[in-house]
Amino acid sequence: MSEVIEPLEQMCGTLIERKKALRAALSKLPRRKLGHFPTPLDKCERFSASLGGVSVWVKRDDCSGLAFGGNKTRQLQFVLGDALASGADVIIQGAASQSNHSRQVAAASAKLGVKCVLMPRQDKKASVVQGNALIARLFGAEIEPVPNDASMKEAKDRTAARLREAGHTPFVVGMGAERALTLAALAYIDALLEIVDEFEYRGEPLPTHIYTTSQGSTQAGLLAGARLLGLNIRVVGINPMDASNEAYVDVSAIEQQAIGAAALVGYSIELKPGDVENCTDFVAPGYGLPSPEGQEAIAMMARLEGMLFDPVYSGKGLSGMVGHIRSSVIPSGARVVFIHTGGLPALFSYSDEMLASGEA
Ligand SMILES: Cc1ncc(COP(=O)(O)O)c(C=O)c1O
Repeated sequence: MSEVIEPLEQMCGTLIERKKALRAALSKLPRRKLGHFPTPLDKCERFSASLGGVSVWVKRDDCSGLAFGGNKTRQLQFVLGDALASGADVIIQGAASQSNHSRQVAAASAKLGVKCVLMPRQDKKASVVQGNALIARLFGAEIEPVPNDASMKEAKDRTAARLREAGHTPFVVGMGAERALTLAALAYIDALLEIVDEFEYRGEPLPTHIYTTSQGSTQAGLLAGARLLGLNIRVVGINPMDASNEAYVDVSAIEQQAIGAAALVGYSIELKPGDVENCTDFVAPGYGLPSPEGQEAIAMMARLEGMLFDPVYSGKGLSGMVGHIRSSVIPSGARVVFIHTGGLPALFSYSDEMLASGEA
């Protein structure tokens, strides 16, 4: 879909009509089935009671079905759908050695029968082949390690140029790949539709807040979805990294991803300053380094709900939501959906840190 038309709210009066229009628009875009959707929605009674005054649900995108699941399954359905529709014959992804995204790209490429080149950064976690790094190798991707101090974006661009010269049509995903990031956002418009359907089906009032771990795309899609449907839901992303990381995406770029995702389904949205709430307060001691608040939040969910989170992404996002409930940024009476973006294989490569925290 290329032409952006008016705001969806102006065209369709009711929520039912807006949902129908959005679904119709999404169905016209290239998408490859990679996982199990809709993902479940769990009401967390014991976790909510322990915090007092709020109701929390977890949207289980960690159960999305492909190779330990996560938000990337949902996103890659559109990202790789677009890549294959445009003739790509090799997918390039590079990130931290314990990247969930890399694991999912390798699995999705295997499922779709397309060549994949993974470029793991030779960071502190690279020497022990565990967790995501171990699993990623099983999918048959070519592995091209990248020195820890090199620019990942430049490394991926060089690999793409080399493959192009060899007659391939590469498609680069992940950090710096603007189109792929916007397509990844698009997938979370679809996730919001699932959430609204599930609340309506259960006869529950819609959530007041949606929290998630996000570097941009997941949050951008949820925000675009809320605006397109005309819903008064506060969308907050807890970022696992800050501006010191090459992969960090700032608020204005997230805004562009939200506008871009809405444009892909053919509608315009308006965002005001402050609408993109992406919080970097829970990053410390740094990206890829577990935090005491994250470890506590992981232990709470494990002990109260039997649910697992990881110390790099989903656990830090969860610690942000817990922090905002405790400091009343999320007010008493709020109905909060936390989107679990996955990342669980990383738990196994952080066994030392988990044991040292005293929570495991
Ligand atoms: C588990 C997990 N959660 C969240 C994210 C961030 O996703 P997004 O960039 O779509 O916001 C990632 C990215 O790698 C991830 O692996």
